Amino acid sequence: MAVQISPSILSADFARLADEAKAVEETADWLHVDVMDNHFVPNLTLGLPVVEALLKHAALPLDCHLMITDPDRHAPAYAEAGAGSVTIHAEAAKAPVRTLRAIRTAGARCGLGINPGTAIESYEDLLDEVDMVLLMTVEPGFGGQHFLDMVLPKVRRTRAMLASRNARRAPEGREIWLQVDGGVSEETIERCAEAGADVFVAGSAVYGARDPARAVRELREQAERATARAAWPGA
Ligand code: DX5
Ligand code: ZN
Repeated sequence: MAVQISPSILSADFARLADEAKAVEETADWLHVDVMDNHFVPNLTLGLPVVEALLKHAALPLDCHLMITDPDRHAPAYAEAGAGSVTIHAEAAKAPVRTLRAIRTAGARCGLGINPGTAIESYEDLLDEVDMVLLMTVEPGFGGQHFLDMVLPKVRRTRAMLASRNARRAPEGREIWLQVDGGVSEETIERCAEAGADVFVAGSAVYGARDPARAVRELREQAERATARAAWPGA
C-alpha cells in the first residue's frame, strides 16, 4: 500500500476550518477529524453538524475518528453524511460487527481504533470486518502529546496479522490499512513506517508548522523512504 497522510484538524484553527482544510488539500490524502464526547476521552471537540459543514467545504475525504462512548448508536450517521472513513474504538463498541457493517453499508470505509493499552490479539477475529486498523500511539484525547514507543511492537504484530488477509484481498484492491495516530512527526514517522504503518495521522506536526502543505509533503517523503527500507510484506 502507498503511504497516506491524514492531517488532524484537532491542531488547526477551529474558527477557520475551511481554510485549514484547503491548506493541505494539494498534498494530503485525507482530513482526519477527531470527534470527542468528553466521556470516552476527557475532551470535547465537535460532532456531526461540524462534519456536515466541513463536507460542503473540504475537497479531501474526511477520516472521522470517533472517540465516543456509544459508537454503535452514532457512527453510521457519519458515513451516511458522506465521510470517506469512519473509525470506532474497540474499547467502546458493544456490537462492533454490526456497527462496522453499518458504516460500510452506508458507503464509507470502516476502521477499528485500539488504545495503547489494548491488545490487538483480542480483536484478531474482527480484522476480516475492517478496512483499517487505527493504533493509537498516545492515549486518546489531546493533540501534541509524546509518541509512545511501546506501541511499535503492536504495529509490527498487527502488520503480521494483516499479511495473509491483504494477500487475499489485494486482487480486489481491498487491503486493510494500518493507521497510526498520536505524536507522529518528523522524529517518529520513520519508526512507524518501518514497523508497518501505512496511514499516518499528524496534527501538531502539520498544523503547528509554518507551511502545513510542505510539512505533509516532507512527512510523506520520510515515510516513503522508511517503507522502502522496511521488510514487512507489501512494503
Ligand atoms: C488524539 C487524536 C489525534 C491527535 C493527534 O486523541 O486522536 O488525532 O489530533 O495529534 P498529534 O499529531 O499532535 O499527536
Ligand atoms: Zn485521531
